Amino acid sequence: MFRKIVRQLAGKATNLLPCIAFSTTQPYRFNQEYSTFEQLGKGSCGIVYRVVENSSQKQFTCKKMRKTKRWRAHREAIALRDISGSRLPQFHAKLEDEFAIYILSKYIPGEDLFDYLADFYCLDEYDLQHVVVEMASCIKQCLDCSIAHLDIKAENFIVDEASVLNLKLIDFGAAHHISEDKELMSLKTPAGTTGFSPPEFYGGRFHRNSDVWSLAVCIWILATGERPFPRHESYSTSKTVSEPGHFIFPTLAHEEKLKTMSPLLVSLLGQMFTIDPRKRISIQEVLSHPWIVNT
Ligand SMILES: Nc1ncnc2c1ncn2[C@@H]1O[C@H](COP(=O)(O)OP(=O)(O)OP(=O)(O)O)[C@@H](O)[C@H]1O
Ligand SMILES: [Mg+2]
Repeated sequence: MFRKIVRQLAGKATNLLPCIAFSTTQPYRFNQEYSTFEQLGKGSCGIVYRVVENSSQKQFTCKKMRKTKRWRAHREAIALRDISGSRLPQFHAKLEDEFAIYILSKYIPGEDLFDYLADFYCLDEYDLQHVVVEMASCIKQCLDCSIAHLDIKAENFIVDEASVLNLKLIDFGAAHHISEDKELMSLKTPAGTTGFSPPEFYGGRFHRNSDVWSLAVCIWILATGERPFPRHESYSTSKTVSEPGHFIFPTLAHEEKLKTMSPLLVSLLGQMFTIDPRKRISIQEVLSHPWIVNT
């Protein structure tokens, strides 16, 4: 659907990352440089559009964020600048005018994994394995750049139209840089989505294995059609898991779901849902787990 923003923008350019220089006498107007086309999606922090740069006719994905989300926009732009890989978005620019902040990255045609799988209640283990390899490979590429994504969920993966179920990871608004010195690092801004967040987030910390927990939540949902933890409750209040290093599902409902899974998948989930992130399986170990390699 074609959508053109018609209001006239006025304001001074505040281009925070050194991508495009503007004259200080000429107020920057996003709509003069770019044409806005269809809405690709909407998140809690902004609306995502396809835009075309008028001068070059190049297409970009543009996340338009409210100015109150300035800190998140900054975090997202810095993370995008520091990642590189075929499964990750390529940063183009962070722009600002009087009305909004715009984060531009290379256009990825496709829809998000949540919408893509919306018609399926759950996946069989053969299909699930393929999806998990794709998701884990995206996370690994990100960690290889020393960036933890910290908001892993199906909505943040794009199914690339160009090939069959080739996933790309998006939405770096919660991403944090990984320190070489410390195992557990402080969260500088809120991360995660309730129900997907690992236990360490509730103590204000993250680890390079934090994304593995959230991936396990995704696997559980894709395998069973249901969330492992209630949407409104944090891990600590749900009491669904306990015992560092172990994975205990005390409820009958969980036990019933586990019975539907192969022993190898149960073993993988147990290692991913380990409370202490230092004892949790790493993303490399997920990718070489027998459930992945032998399924
Ligand atoms: N390149 C893209 N192609 C297709 N859809 C996209 C693309 N980028 C983003 N989207 C859609 O827009 C939605 C919102 O984008 P994004 O997750 O970056 O925003 P957000 O406000 O940070 O989200 P959240 O609610 O997770 O905080 C995505 O879930 C997805 O549906
Ligand atoms: Mg998102």
